[in-house]
Amino acid sequence: MSEQPLFKVTIDNITVEVPAGTTILNAARKIGGDVAPPAMCYYSKLEGSGGKCRTCLVEVSKGSEKDPRPMPKLVASCRTTVMDGMEVKNITSDRVIDARNGVVEFLLINHPLDCPVCDQAGECHLQDLSYEHGKAGTRYEFQRRTFKKHDLGDKIQLHMTRCILCYRCVFTADQLTGKREHGILDRGDHAEIATYIEKNLDNEFIGNVIDVCPVGALTDKTFRFKNRVWFLKPVDAHRDCKTCSGKVTLWNRGDEVYRVTARKDQWGEVEDWICNTCRFDKKQTSDWVIEGPRLIDRHSVIAQGHYAGTVGTHKPTETFEAVHAGRQPKLLMDIHSISEVNQPNITLSQLDRPAHSTDFNHNKD
Ligand code: SF4
Ligand code: FES
Repeated sequence: MSEQPLFKVTIDNITVEVPAGTTILNAARKIGGDVAPPAMCYYSKLEGSGGKCRTCLVEVSKGSEKDPRPMPKLVASCRTTVMDGMEVKNITSDRVIDARNGVVEFLLINHPLDCPVCDQAGECHLQDLSYEHGKAGTRYEFQRRTFKKHDLGDKIQLHMTRCILCYRCVFTADQLTGKREHGILDRGDHAEIATYIEKNLDNEFIGNVIDVCPVGALTDKTFRFKNRVWFLKPVDAHRDCKTCSGKVTLWNRGDEVYRVTARKDQWGEVEDWICNTCRFDKKQTSDWVIEGPRLIDRHSVIAQGHYAGTVGTHKPTETFEAVHAGRQPKLLMDIHSISEVNQPNITLSQLDRPAHSTDFNHNKD
């Protein structure tokens, strides 16, 4: 079998080699950092995902080595494959930034700004995107789309008002459970996620729709309003599960397990799908073998000051002595003998009155 050719692609002036057939988005993820465009609907583990939200738009300034003409319009990087010699601009393109601002504005037209009461706050991709690209105000003057909350079974709540119609949950149910009973009904601004005639979604893997939802439209009813994610301590844990890999993240406060989720990678995507039993029914620390703290993406509010790894508790490698030309630190020094700010016969800390200017050493400058 012939080996797949490697294509050279330059994104934001950084060149990488990727196999033919790779999308621009995945090539950019190979470089990492801000070069990787945001993706609200693409999910590498879900076939057919992508192409819905347009947050991943990029500018192709050179089509390929053979045909260097630029592409006239911005393209969805999650659905466009690389060509050899292609040059792409993401954060280095004003057109892209401008378009992304517009996309965020569209996504927020009907989305309520209810982050203070939304259970997804702190781990919502739309919230992050709005901080980076959103405007303070809105130009939309019409009545917004609102929906009643639905229970999808007894463990999952659908709050359609927050949904951005990314289709991830539909693909998850379709591809993971083999028993899809929900989908998108209607078209245009009437489109909504729904279970036809309110059918419950009872499948051992359906809980994964909560993890793939980029916003707070699908939430875990066993966790809703119990705590804020930034007050919880995520730890990796596993158990011997017959249905799934049993590898999860526990969200603890003290010894109490508040929530169980799948482990997510640096792009916010689930590493291993987990079953409903692990997610909803195993809420005792004794159910799990704890592996250690979960490393959280440094961009996440959950990471602030919490954990070892990319943020928080790095110890500086240099020592005081090394950065002070070999001088030892005087950790237990007597401030009075060192500073000489006070008169030699006066000990400031032993005065039974407020210190006066006469107590200080006026010969010192
Ligand atoms: S409910 Fe969530 S995952 Fe499903 S389409 Fe809406 S935003 Fe996407
Ligand atoms: S991530 Fe590419 S269109 Fe949504």
